[in-house]
Amino acid sequence: MRRRRGAARRARRGRVPEAGGGALVPDQVPAVRLTSITKRFPGVVANRDINLSIEPGEVHALCGENGAGKSTLMKILYGMQRPDEGTIEISGEQVSFRTPADAIARGIGMVHQHFKLADNLTVLENVILGAEPRAKGWLRGRIDFAAARARIQEMSKAYGLRVDPDVLVETLGVGERQRVEILKVLYRGARVLILDEPTAVLVPQEVEELFGNLRELRAEGLTVLFISHKLDEVLSVADTISVIRRGTTVATRLDPSQVTSRRLAELMVGSQLPTPELRDSTVTEDVQLEVGGLTVLTPQGRPVVDDVSLRIRRGEIVGLAGVEGNGQSELIEAIMGLRSADAGTIVFGGEDIAHWPTRRRREAGIAYIPEDRHRHGLVLEASLWENRVLGHQTQRPNVRGPWVDRRGARRDTTRIVREYDVRTPGIDVPAAALSGGNQQKLIVGREMSGEPHLLIAAHPTRGIDVGAQAAIWDYLRQARADGLAVLLISADLEELIGMSDTLHVILRGRLVAEVDPRTVTPEELGSAMTGAGDPA
Ligand SMILES: Nc1ncnc2c1ncn2[C@@H]1O[C@H](COP(=O)(O)OP(=O)(O)OP(=O)(O)O)[C@@H](O)[C@H]1O
Ligand SMILES: [Mg+2]
Repeated sequence: MRRRRGAARRARRGRVPEAGGGALVPDQVPAVRLTSITKRFPGVVANRDINLSIEPGEVHALCGENGAGKSTLMKILYGMQRPDEGTIEISGEQVSFRTPADAIARGIGMVHQHFKLADNLTVLENVILGAEPRAKGWLRGRIDFAAARARIQEMSKAYGLRVDPDVLVETLGVGERQRVEILKVLYRGARVLILDEPTAVLVPQEVEELFGNLRELRAEGLTVLFISHKLDEVLSVADTISVIRRGTTVATRLDPSQVTSRRLAELMVGSQLPTPELRDSTVTEDVQLEVGGLTVLTPQGRPVVDDVSLRIRRGEIVGLAGVEGNGQSELIEAIMGLRSADAGTIVFGGEDIAHWPTRRRREAGIAYIPEDRHRHGLVLEASLWENRVLGHQTQRPNVRGPWVDRRGARRDTTRIVREYDVRTPGIDVPAAALSGGNQQKLIVGREMSGEPHLLIAAHPTRGIDVGAQAAIWDYLRQARADGLAVLLISADLEELIGMSDTLHVILRGRLVAEVDPRTVTPEELGSAMTGAGDPA
């Protein structure tokens, strides 16, 4: 259906999908044309002689492994980085952007890999921030909230972007935040929308919703450029695909009907697609974590975690499936001590830790890969080795007696960089200099250090390319074989099914079902998560 529509659209524009390599040859002025773009950072060439053209009204996907240079290229197009060489043309006109404001003025908008909303403001305030409409008449100069609200409601209707303008961003889940980010960009008049890994944070239903939104945008004549590691999705939504490898384009304007995800993966990394799976069971009888009747209330007294009981044994991976915002984050935060529980017990290795501070829980051997790595995982301005110390500032090899052991921490950071294949010019660069996937590998490496007894892994492979993903699954399997207990949360249902020994479904704060990961399908799990289906 979609394919045929795509073909019709192409035919209407008089484009001919020719034979050679399945590339589509445009015949009109591109919405964006990047020519010979090169960008160097100390020790790295992030982009090397990149050539790319994007047609107006198309959804164009950009693929490539972690650190390939995708985000850098998009930041150049959005005026956040200046290229060392090369030119940018927008609708045939050469431009030179010094700041994102310049790019916005030319109709380029970008939603980042990590969201940049102000938590303590409402959706409406976030959307209009910096682009406030001013009232006329006797209220001249004041912010015209009514006009802004009307416009947001109209836009969210036109593009099917469901949002409530008056709630605090703090209370929103990831999928909703993303819609706010998109609205914010559209509100500024973007005609070319750049989305950096928009689906990494979404569950399948939300991905469908986003793709529906993208199609609406396309129908309105907007051009969409998006980055994704999920090749099946790329094939399902993109009109054309380009692949970047080690800083340069190795294929551009591929026709999705002419390539397979395997071929794309080969273009990206030159290796086969790995799959998540567990072989022999390593589950023991020793219960490492037992949560009983755990309840967390909102300030208004509504339960977000509602009487949850679950146990994780040594050598067991317990998966938790749920649509974003059904209490997963709050449950994890309660176990980590980042949020206090209103009722219930948390017994770790036989001790009730419900009233322990986070530091003590970590010291006792609870490792944590957080969902939002910028808010809870890394200090972006600090170096890699300083980030190695973070959250582990009382433990070896980071300290000796009362002192920070710089040498120990540095040596161990070098080990993590090597073992987890963190692509970086060195351990003294700030974490901000790493690509998104490489930041994640650093966090996983740090949290797996020091042989924890329990690992709480929220989306451990989010934003990570296929090769690195396989490596992280290997680490999880190895740690599990060594007796680690794992609580796994993931929006990637294949990963959740493939990597869990036991799989619970959480809905509105309650564990509503336990499914058998050996037999359940992603579709069945998806409907159990929305409360629609009859869980197995
Ligand atoms: N501000 C910076 N300073 C120094 N190096 C940087 C900076 N930004 C990116 N790099 C480096 O440039 C290269 C490309 O990074 P980029 O973020 O563009 O990769 P990516 O393709 O988006 O990867 P991912 O899929 O992991 O997000 C990497 O080696 C990265 O470490
Ligand atoms: Mg990136």
